[in-house]
Amino acid sequence: MYSFPFPFEEGQSHYFYKNNAVQMKNRTTVQITPNYLKEMKLKRDTIIKNPERCFVALDHTYEAQWEATLYIAKELALRYPDTFTMTSRKYGFTLNNHLLKEEVRFDYKVNKEPLNDIGKHVQEDLILMFQREGQLFLDAGQLCFPSNWSLAFNKGMAFMDIHRPVPGFQEGQLDRRIERFLLHLCPGDPFERSNWSLMAGETLNTHLETFPEWGKKRYSVTEDTVGNYVHVRVEVQKLHRLPKTYTILFTIHTHLLSLKELSKDLNKANQLYTILLSLPKPIEEYKGITPYKSHVMNYLEGVL
Ligand code: HEM
Repeated sequence: MYSFPFPFEEGQSHYFYKNNAVQMKNRTTVQITPNYLKEMKLKRDTIIKNPERCFVALDHTYEAQWEATLYIAKELALRYPDTFTMTSRKYGFTLNNHLLKEEVRFDYKVNKEPLNDIGKHVQEDLILMFQREGQLFLDAGQLCFPSNWSLAFNKGMAFMDIHRPVPGFQEGQLDRRIERFLLHLCPGDPFERSNWSLMAGETLNTHLETFPEWGKKRYSVTEDTVGNYVHVRVEVQKLHRLPKTYTILFTIHTHLLSLKELSKDLNKANQLYTILLSLPKPIEEYKGITPYKSHVMNYLEGVL
């Protein structure tokens, strides 16, 4: 049964950046939710319209892409046997996707972008981080539902540089400490964390490149529309070390829930209110909440 992944820890009343990655209990990579069909259509349409925004891969990444593809396909067939079937062949496998009514062949070296191909069957964004010289680099990925960042811009970039725009992330060398933690991830011992924000509207494919289209919605929130229009946006992020290529597979599953829906649970509404009250200004601005924050606070006060 699907439930929205509320991002705050029990009793948490302040928000600050820290390493909130925890060891994963159920060791999963991807999740099929009731929005599967809608999101797969949006993902595929976004890829067709702007392929260069949605997929990047440096030449050396093929083996890791293939390993990630097998890893995800095996999990789909194991966890969702009524929905996915995987049949091995000499140089690859066939994936039957019963939800999309598709039979797709995956052949080693014939599929030139295997990560992009398997990504068309899962709601998650899929990023591969490569380890060299004590650092992690984003050398391949499929990204269709980003929270205001650009895959094309970040292609080949190091973990610390990717996080440079995040306010306060370098304080106390948090970025370095998180990278060190990631460098020590082991195969078979995955971690997960969540990231949250608020957004005006319900758009999943918020690439940095299209900011002028969706960013202006932040200024159109009103007292009357705020409950249905503003959404809590949560990214469930999972970190798996792939055993053969030693790449890190970083999956991002983005979930949206309107303030109105969230407020049906008063405890959750209250915790969100408290955390928003204490949110440091630079983080609030970075998350893009400032233009409509007063409407959100008034709405939550009305509910509580
Ligand atoms: C290893 C894979 C990871 C990748 C590829 C990645 C990538 C990114 C990107 C592209 C951004 C947006 C930066 C921008 O505004 O341009 C971001 C934000 C952020 N990342 Fe990561 N990240 C990773 C892992 C982590 C981990 C393990 C943590 C913490 C334990 C973390 C914490 C954060 C935080 C706190 C933000 C700011 C988000 C917000 O406040 O809305 N990241 N990350």
